Amino acid sequence: MYLFKRKDDLERHLSIARKEGKRIGFVPTMGALHQGHLSLISAAKENTDLVVCSIFVNPTQFNDPADFEKYPITIDQDILQLTATGTDVLFLPSVQEMYPNGLAPEMHYDFGPLETVLEGAHRPGHFQGVGQVVHKLLNLVRPDKLFMGQKDFQQCLIINRLIKILNLGVELVICPTLREQDGLAMSSRNLRLNPTERQNALHISRALYYIKDNLTKGSLKEITGDAINELKGKGFDVDYLDMVSILPDGNVDFPATPGKEPLFAVVAAREISSNVRLIDNMRVN
Ligand code: PAF
Repeated sequence: MYLFKRKDDLERHLSIARKEGKRIGFVPTMGALHQGHLSLISAAKENTDLVVCSIFVNPTQFNDPADFEKYPITIDQDILQLTATGTDVLFLPSVQEMYPNGLAPEMHYDFGPLETVLEGAHRPGHFQGVGQVVHKLLNLVRPDKLFMGQKDFQQCLIINRLIKILNLGVELVICPTLREQDGLAMSSRNLRLNPTERQNALHISRALYYIKDNLTKGSLKEITGDAINELKGKGFDVDYLDMVSILPDGNVDFPATPGKEPLFAVVAAREISSNVRLIDNMRVN
């Protein structure tokens, strides 16, 4: 695996690959890699000729400085896992390399109503930061296909829109969320949970399964209300637990109109004893 820390080295390497006719697959990450990330690498390997992964904990997308400081960093293990999975190139830039002119936004992205609901309502500025860094990375890597996980449901919709509004000409491939055997969605932030908190975190996916199993037994409002109360009782601050459906233009219909397809239950909740905020989502019809 090649490891590049500088943009120009990465660009030189990829321009040669492109001239050789290789199709490039790209998996952007913030490191602390788990099986979910590795499944994106595998999907990229199956569908393209050269797989680039980036690891960059992007400061501009953290609205909470404590979350940024505590973001897990496991770079040595990440490199071993990427090598074992057959990643061709790892891009590992510094903050200075990505933001030579400072962290202030260079442009504003028009993500429409998507930006201010759900995650956007609770993490102001988050999606502008995600847009900023993914835009920079796509301009550098210029992949044919971009691989992202459905775990970050709204992020996928935002990037879909970024690609459309800027006409970036890359295909977004959304891969399914991977879960631990007991149902917990794989996430880098799970590393911040001790065994008791990790056990408690299970209630998040349980809430989504509860909605899925009971969808026809009451109104959406009643069912989500029950699931929220259950989570609160188990020691969570619930930022949101809602139903959304995706409109043909890629926006979300929120709150969802009953009967719409596809319908997703989406949740963000803070496990109070660890103060770790987790997100998850599930298609329920
Ligand atoms: O999902 C993530 O890990 C990040 O938001 C991303 C897409 C790598 C941008 O920093």
